[in-house]
Amino acid sequence: MSSGATATGGTEHTSTPVRTPSVLDLVGNTPLVRIRVLARDLPPDVRVYAKLEGFNPGGSVKDRPALNMVRDGLKKGLLRPGKTILDSTSGNTGIALAMIGAALGYPVDLVMPDNVSIERKKIIWAYGANIIFSSGLEGSDGAIRLCRDVLKKDPEKYFKPDQYFNEANPEAHYLTTGPEIWRQTDGQVTHFVTGLGTGGTIMGTGRALKERNRAIQVIGVEPDDSFHGLEGLKHMASSIVPGIYHENELDEKLPIGTEDAYDMVYKLGTDEGIVVGQSSGANLVGALQVARRLERGVVVTIFCDFGVRYLSTNLWAHR
Ligand SMILES: Cc1ncc(COP(=O)(O)O)c(C=O)c1O
Repeated sequence: MSSGATATGGTEHTSTPVRTPSVLDLVGNTPLVRIRVLARDLPPDVRVYAKLEGFNPGGSVKDRPALNMVRDGLKKGLLRPGKTILDSTSGNTGIALAMIGAALGYPVDLVMPDNVSIERKKIIWAYGANIIFSSGLEGSDGAIRLCRDVLKKDPEKYFKPDQYFNEANPEAHYLTTGPEIWRQTDGQVTHFVTGLGTGGTIMGTGRALKERNRAIQVIGVEPDDSFHGLEGLKHMASSIVPGIYHENELDEKLPIGTEDAYDMVYKLGTDEGIVVGQSSGANLVGALQVARRLERGVVVTIFCDFGVRYLSTNLWAHR
């Protein structure tokens, strides 16, 4: 892999930074960073990389599917002037839709559990979107159900991207995340490990990678229990299974504990200088488990967002 590293250990910037007419042009093309300190016990031929999705303009991996679903709705005429964008979201998709709605001039209504972090609510309000709260006790499934009721009452008002059932969600990762990982690893990626929320990231990225090399292992990370603190991830056995999620396309699934994921978030901050959210911590726990079985390989995972979004949550309550 070409590193572009300078003699002082920095990275030489030879390309001109982008100039763009719209913030939406900045979605995707996120950096891939090597995990060094936390992977130091691995054999020299095993490398672990994380894709830093917090660099998307809306701050998370969800900018990709949100933009693709909105573009798909515009193309099909389902979203047109006078319509409001509506969806249920655990947070990041809502932020992404709020940003995109603001950039394109469409109002956005979001249904979300009332216990999502205050940072998330305020960012959404900052983009001018409206939040409809569902019961926090019912988690993301409660938001899905309430959103269906809102739509039923006034179907003409809304365009609902419906990230759990919209093929434009995995398609975003098939068209962008997967090819980017392939290019960023010079085709050397052997394992892709990431968490299951809607399943969009793993389905789309997995398909793109397997199409380029069938031997690439696609491994899902999920909470080890239905009661967990891994915002953004689903415990599939006890959840409404998303229509876009097909478990038979995975090579394996790893159950990850909330405490292990949280500990990994703390270590990522102090040892690697990367502060991320809890699902990224879970993803790295899974990626390192996979890497420890190997003698050689390139394991890629996703850091879905940065940690500032979670400073008021349980993740940081006792630190
Ligand atoms: C923080 C976070 N992590 C992980 C995921 C899971 O991604 P996906 O929905 O593509 O499975 C999401 C998406 O809901 C998320 O918001």
